[in-house]
Amino acid sequence: MRETYGAVLPGMNLSDLTGKLIVIEGTDGVGRSTQINLLKPWLEQQGRAVLDTGMTRSELAGKGIKQAKEGHTLGRVTLSLFYTTDFADRLENEIVPALRAGFVVLTDRYIYSLMARAVVRGIDLPWLRNVYGFALKPDAVFYLRIGVDDLIPRVVFSRGFDYWESGMDLHPSEDMYESFRKYQTSLLAQFEVLAKEYGFEVVDASGEIRSVFDQLRDGIGRVLSGEPQEPIFSVRQPGGESEEATQLPAAPASEGAVETPAKAHAAANAVDGDDTK
Ligand SMILES: Nc1ncnc2c1ncn2[C@@H]1O[C@H](COP(=O)(O)OP(=O)(O)O)[C@@H](O)[C@H]1O
Ligand SMILES: [Mg+2]
Repeated sequence: MRETYGAVLPGMNLSDLTGKLIVIEGTDGVGRSTQINLLKPWLEQQGRAVLDTGMTRSELAGKGIKQAKEGHTLGRVTLSLFYTTDFADRLENEIVPALRAGFVVLTDRYIYSLMARAVVRGIDLPWLRNVYGFALKPDAVFYLRIGVDDLIPRVVFSRGFDYWESGMDLHPSEDMYESFRKYQTSLLAQFEVLAKEYGFEVVDASGEIRSVFDQLRDGIGRVLSGEPQEPIFSVRQPGGESEEATQLPAAPASEGAVETPAKAHAAANAVDGDDTK
């Protein structure tokens, strides 16, 4: 039986959640989307059903959060709770049903990013732990660790500094670059605290896309290796006489079977913003 960190959401049944919940965490611009764009086809080529989800993608709250951020209409606590609503909606309507159907759920951020952002904005960690108690404990959290000096070029050469990703609501500095550096430094420090508390598996994200992918692939491979090895798809013989299933050809070996890092890079750049894919 799956566990949550605290109280279960009312009406949520946690039995028979046979899928795997895998979290990719990391700060703004570290390369989460890039890696998920590589991991999803890699997993699918092994015949696994994959759900990828991420912040602000809920039906219920996604649009509202974007509007609130444009108009700066919410305070720190209410904005944080709006994100919590988005998360609760996706947990109930996407993540839990997908886990029940045996999917690998790849989530781009989880409660930890929300906690780190809120702590940097002066919200108490014990209060946050309590708020997010309804979150399912994932099978693994892979934290893409990077230093701020390695992070800055990634952001400069892709989407540029964003108001929220630079913590401008906290007004760390007049200058966007300085703000980004200061805000991200505080955020990274909070991630380190959470990494210890919640047992993240740390991935060195400062290297090339391929090397980060290799580390994630090894880690996820380990998480999934406890599962049965039989092919997931099989086709019955025509006529239904034979009990023997005909196997579809095995998926090609993982090397080269995935999208190339260049394609993943392009895909990550095709969308902008912190919380979109
Ligand atoms: N390991 C890497 N080395 C260099 N650049 C990278 C790496 N990973 C991602 N990038 C680039 O950094 C930018 C931000 O990546 P993205 O995946 O959108 O980050 P996130 O989803 O974490 O915000 C993109 O231009 C992407 O191509
Ligand atoms: Mg992204």
